[in-house]
Amino acid sequence: MASDDLVIRIAGEGGEGIISCGEILSKAVARGGLNIHAFRTFPAEIKGGLAMFQLRASTGPTLSLKQQIDILLAFNQEAYDAYIKNLKNSGTLLYDPKLCQPDEHLGQRRRLELPLDSLAAEVTGGTRAKNMVALGAALELYDMPVEYGQKLVQEFFAGKGNEVLEANNKGLDAGYRHSQSNYQEIQRHFERYPDRNQVLVTGNEAVALGALAAGVEYVAGYPITPATPIFEFLCKELPKFGGVALQFEDEIASLAAGIGASFVGKRVMTATSGPGLSLMSETLNLASMAECPLVIVNVMRGGPSTGLPTKTEQSDLKFAIYGTSGEAPRCIMAPVSIYDCFWQIPRAFRIAERYQIPVIVLTDQSMAYTSMNIDAPDLDNIARFRRLRPEKGVPRETFKRYALTDDGVSPMPIPGEDNLRYMGTGLEHDETGAPNYSPENHEAMSAKRFRKLKTLGDHITQQPMEEYEPEGTEVGLVGWGSTYGAIQEAIEMLKERDGINVAHLHPRVLSPLNEWRIRRFLGPLKKIIVPEENYTGQYSHFLKAKFGIRPIEVHKCQGIPFTSEEIYDAVKEEL
Ligand code: COA
Repeated sequence: MASDDLVIRIAGEGGEGIISCGEILSKAVARGGLNIHAFRTFPAEIKGGLAMFQLRASTGPTLSLKQQIDILLAFNQEAYDAYIKNLKNSGTLLYDPKLCQPDEHLGQRRRLELPLDSLAAEVTGGTRAKNMVALGAALELYDMPVEYGQKLVQEFFAGKGNEVLEANNKGLDAGYRHSQSNYQEIQRHFERYPDRNQVLVTGNEAVALGALAAGVEYVAGYPITPATPIFEFLCKELPKFGGVALQFEDEIASLAAGIGASFVGKRVMTATSGPGLSLMSETLNLASMAECPLVIVNVMRGGPSTGLPTKTEQSDLKFAIYGTSGEAPRCIMAPVSIYDCFWQIPRAFRIAERYQIPVIVLTDQSMAYTSMNIDAPDLDNIARFRRLRPEKGVPRETFKRYALTDDGVSPMPIPGEDNLRYMGTGLEHDETGAPNYSPENHEAMSAKRFRKLKTLGDHITQQPMEEYEPEGTEVGLVGWGSTYGAIQEAIEMLKERDGINVAHLHPRVLSPLNEWRIRRFLGPLKKIIVPEENYTGQYSHFLKAKFGIRPIEVHKCQGIPFTSEEIYDAVKEEL
């Protein structure tokens, strides 16, 4: 690609401030006008273990994480041992000679000392600010003025007192000067565009902002990594917009409270992760049965049980679609990028309200914690939808909350509104809401509930899904969720390096499916490759069952996302 791209990976021990260093660096570089993709991964422990922050900044698009890095900034030996394999042959190792001894055999790679500990000690008398030394050095390599870093250090550590601020500023300056004097051979110049109308957000922040834009009124939650930041953000911001955010004793209670709020007419959301979704499953059935609209954002993390709470995986798809006793209709969506995390949340609310169903939005840890600068959204362009309400003056005696309509959607009053009332229950019920166990009624009511999904599936025909189908190609990639960027970049690489055209389909609504459109895409393809970040190929199985195809499955189950290079290699292997 012709754009100027620089990837720096900073790694060291959790607790040493790797993440703060990376966050400040990415903000400074984004403010400086480069496009960024900033990824982090860290252990579940508060202190110790290996923490890593990777910043990719470019004058061109930055859609995904890169496997091959230009600069490895290793705080210690563990960081060096883990990541030296990812350093390009033309790359540079920056290392603290006190804590890291590189091999003699680094090939053509440069090695340059960055004495983090001793520079920090020299200017501050201690080593706490060593991460700011690293920040200063990296900032200079991105060709950013030191003032950008100083301003952000001020914002970042304002709450920690003057002494901390002063020490961190000294550390920053020392790193910056060291880089200016010692790293001339790797310094680069970037064209910068600092005055763009953009915001820098993580996937979690984009989800929370999307919820505000959608007009969410009630958020009930229980903290769980990696979804907690969504809840924290909304607890702080939602009251400013007249809404309510409440923490409950667990996920079951929070969803139950959400159903209550939905019952009385509020737009409702909760955010959780795999184990929380498991706990919610029975309450979720109640939302389907009582036809209470709500949105559940599930930020997927690695493994079953406690698993890998701070790592990524796309492994809750089957549970989201099928994790129900009885048959409880719900809609499953997956945003394809951080930008999309913002836009798909209002859509999820529209679907929930329009079809009176729970909507599960699947994001994942990598998306949740990756930050990118995105164009500031035009908030006037966001449509909101309120559920169908009964016509004014409907007599209370004849009102049917669960009327058997053609599209399955029936009017839902706010209890007491226009003197109307009804029973919203988990028991099977008749059209009025009264319990009814007759065989005919259960069949008719099941059909009503599923008719809503059919109507929704047909409606999705008009909704965009990412679809790219160059003429004459016989190979296609089908993905979902956060793999979109890596797939897109792999497709570009195949075109540029090998002159190969590969088609790409990336639906945003995963269930119900827009069957005819997917069939139309799959029809001409001889090879269908489905890359997924899980062990068993959950989406691939879903497609097999629906369309009788035999996709080539590419799995990655390592707690870190696909890179475009991995997808490129996987496609090449199959050609
Ligand atoms: N001077 C003063 N304070 C500094 C500093 C500096 N130079 N650099 C960092 N700090 C502070 C940070 O502000 C942060 O403080 P806070 O806790 O008050 O926010 C703290 O030191 C940690 O630094 P940070 O840069 O955020 O993280 P790190 O790179 O050191 O890594 C984590 C620590 C992120 C790995 C760890 O704290 C964590 O959160 N682990 C995950 C826990 C989890 O979610 N487990 C799952 C449970 S199921």
